[in-house]
Parts: sequence; structure tokens; C-alpha cells
Amino acid sequence: MKPITTALLIVGSLICAASLASAADAAENWGKLCASCHAKDGSGSTVMGKKNNVEDYRSAAVQAKFTDAQAIQIITDGKDKMKSFKEKLTPDEIKALVAYIRGMKK
Ligand code: HEC
Repeated sequence: MKPITTALLIVGSLICAASLASAADAAENWGKLCASCHAKDGSGSTVMGKKNNVEDYRSAAVQAKFTDAQAIQIITDGKDKMKSFKEKLTPDEIKALVAYIRGMKK
């Protein structure tokens, strides 16, 4: 194998490993910090979620209501009953959570 091919393979597998790690982190953060209101599956069917009119993120129509930038802003600064998460999460973790939410769409 040519050295350049080997180098590309190594870089490629590192990128893969990094994105897998961030996917696991987002799922973990979601379960720890968000699922109490938004539910594990994003449906919002929790006591807290129903009380606060949390929407169902499995719905494409709901997902179309906010942009990634708005989602980042709301997770960072909070909205209504949802508090700010900027003390708990890094900007990268917040971005990963937005991607995670996008993945809930059916
Ligand atoms: C205390 C309950 C609660 C927790 C915990 C919570 N949220 Fe929320 N979240 C809400 C409420 C209430 C809204 C506003 C609902 C609305 O206006 O439609 C909201 C709105 C949002 C929105 C904006 C989309 C929208 O429907 O307007 C996003 C994105 C979001 N939450 C993600 C998260 C993430 C990610 C976490 C965890 C880091 C989290 N939430 C934790 C209650 C919560």
C-alpha cells in the first residue's frame, strides 16, 4: 500500500471514531439532561413535557419549525421552562445534541 493511502485510511478511521464518540455523548447527554421533559425518543410524552407543551421531535412538521441555529440558541440560553444549558454543555456538545434531535425525525 502506498504511504498516502495508509495515511488517508488512518485519518478516515480517526474521523469515524471521533464522530461515533460524539454520537454516544449526545445520546448520553440527551438521556441525562433532556429526556425528563422531551422523553427519551423526543416525543415529549413525559409529565413535565405534557405540562409544558413540549413538541414531538419525531414529527417532520415540528422539526421544520426551528432552524439549527434557533435550536442551538434555545439550548444555550433556554426558553420558557427550559433552562439555559451553557454552564453544563460545551458549544460542540450542543451542536451534537441538535444533530441528535434531527435524527429523531421519522
Ligand atoms: C424542564 C423541561 C425541559 C428540559 C430539561 C429540556 N427542555 Fe427543551 N424545551 C422545553 C420547553 C418547555 C421548550 C419550549 C417548547 C416550545 O416553545 O415549543 C423547549 C424547547 C426546546 C427546543 C426548541 C424547539 C422548540 O420546540 O421550540 C429545543 C431544540 C430543545 N428544547 C432541546 C432541548 C435539549 C437538547 C435539552 C437538554 C440539553 C432540553 N431541551 C432540555 C423543556 C425542556
